[in-house]
Amino acid sequence: MRIILLGAPGAGKGTQAQFLMKTFGIPQISTGDMLRAAIKAGTELGQQAKAVMDAGKLVSDDIMIGLVKERIAQPDCQNGFLLDGFPRTIPQADAMQENGIEIDVVLEFDVPDDVIVKRMAGRRVHPGSGRVYHVDHNPPQVAGKDDETGEDLVIRDDDKEATVRKRLAIYHEQTEPLVNYYRKLAEQGKTKFHKVDGTQDVDAISTELGALLG
Ligand code: AP5
Ligand code: ZN
Repeated sequence: MRIILLGAPGAGKGTQAQFLMKTFGIPQISTGDMLRAAIKAGTELGQQAKAVMDAGKLVSDDIMIGLVKERIAQPDCQNGFLLDGFPRTIPQADAMQENGIEIDVVLEFDVPDDVIVKRMAGRRVHPGSGRVYHVDHNPPQVAGKDDETGEDLVIRDDDKEATVRKRLAIYHEQTEPLVNYYRKLAEQGKTKFHKVDGTQDVDAISTELGALLG
């Protein structure tokens, strides 16, 4: 199964990706996690991406398209994948079409901006795995520690309120047009499109997605 997770920063894409990965045995391709790994490793890509990400802006389409094409070509993606954070612009979506990469279902996570701003203040992440927690809504078993490794959780560099608001503005301007883009493809029978109420609690959303895709 090939799935696109579409939604604003903090809408819950990474959280539901954890559930979908386990349930359907397909890898998560999180372009944000890939970029953060590149920053940590100090690669040339990481050095280029850091300032852009810290400012809440988007990394260039050419770089992102190249990165995802290479990732999708790997053997673990042959039975499907979950795209989390890509495509994020019309040119990125066009590149998928041009490369004949078909998608079974696009899931749009709908959450109002004010809910997102509150959520992001409580987010904690495990950098090694990309696992995501929230201090109140989805807490780890031991405060500040990852459930599986016991390693420290951190606050993402781009989760400051001013940066979150900038990311939301860019989402509405550059990424939200993809909702209509994929709705149209769905009308032509080229994919399926499903809108999820992302304000429900984490387990309720997982149950909805399990039933939909099961
Ligand atoms: P990326 O890492 O993709 O960030 P994002 O899209 O902004 O999304 P987030 O990871 O912030 O949110 P999420 O939807 O995964 O929410 P989460 O599950 O964590 O990208 C980062 C940056 O990289 C971009 O700004 C850009 O610079 C660059 N980049 C990446 N891809 C790119 C591309 N294709 N093109 C160009 N540039 C690119 O949940 C958030 C919080 O809420 C957590 O604390 C979680 O526990 C909690 N939560 C989740 N669900 C619920 C719920 N139902 N109820 C209550 N709390 C919940
Ligand atoms: Zn994420």
